[in-house]
Amino acid sequence: MEAKDRIVLALDVDTAEEALALVKKLSGYVGVFKVGMQLYNSIGPSIVHRVHDLGGRVFVDLKLHDIPNTVASAAKVLTRLNTYMFNVHAAGGREMMRQAAAAAVSEAQRMGSDIPIVLAVTVLTSISQQELETEMYVSGLKVEELVVKWALMAQESGLGGVVCSPQEISPIRKACGPDFKIVTPGIRPLWSAPNDQKRITTPRQALEQGADYMVIGRPIIKAADPIAAAQKIIEELEG
Ligand code: C5P
Repeated sequence: MEAKDRIVLALDVDTAEEALALVKKLSGYVGVFKVGMQLYNSIGPSIVHRVHDLGGRVFVDLKLHDIPNTVASAAKVLTRLNTYMFNVHAAGGREMMRQAAAAAVSEAQRMGSDIPIVLAVTVLTSISQQELETEMYVSGLKVEELVVKWALMAQESGLGGVVCSPQEISPIRKACGPDFKIVTPGIRPLWSAPNDQKRITTPRQALEQGADYMVIGRPIIKAADPIAAAQKIIEELEG
């Protein structure tokens, strides 16, 4: 995979105009554009088509979590949009993930289109060990152990990969093997501000630990020169 294709640019902006300006500017320098809840829920599915019209691939980051039938129906809709990736919560369970993955395959085959990469969100990085125990009533497991168990369950359910924190790349890679896609946020080149991200890693470190894709927002979109920032990250990944 080319270095640029590993960069997933987080389109964390309010309007279609801002998002599409970033897509126009950066489609030669990043591989995938991430449309999250903010943008998708304000513009609607048309934002995905509009990014495609500009030649970009799209990761729709809606973190689906519902009964299996409902998630499978939503997975069909996201597959019809020709998304490159979308995600579901592993906490929705094995059957929910199995039906989501199967729905993506059958809908893509029906349309004759590419099968999207369906990713599992394991334990949100905002959840601490203490919250896991006292609010989610999961005891006797470290967050990292639960993350690896859920990554394996996602793989067994037919999902193509996971979204995880940089801390979890190595254990997941070890447990799930070379073909399971690992997508990680919390990426900060040495020259960029950490902002609110705490446990961060550089693009190069994430690659060396075994990440396939890196979700990067502010280091590129808030840079004085976003193209130069993306180019520097590409050079770091190639170096
Ligand atoms: O601007 P920044 O590079 O921090 O953006 C990271 C992106 O990854 C944001 O869209 C953020 O919501 C997302 N993300 C994250 N941490 C997680 C999961 C998703 O930063 N654990």
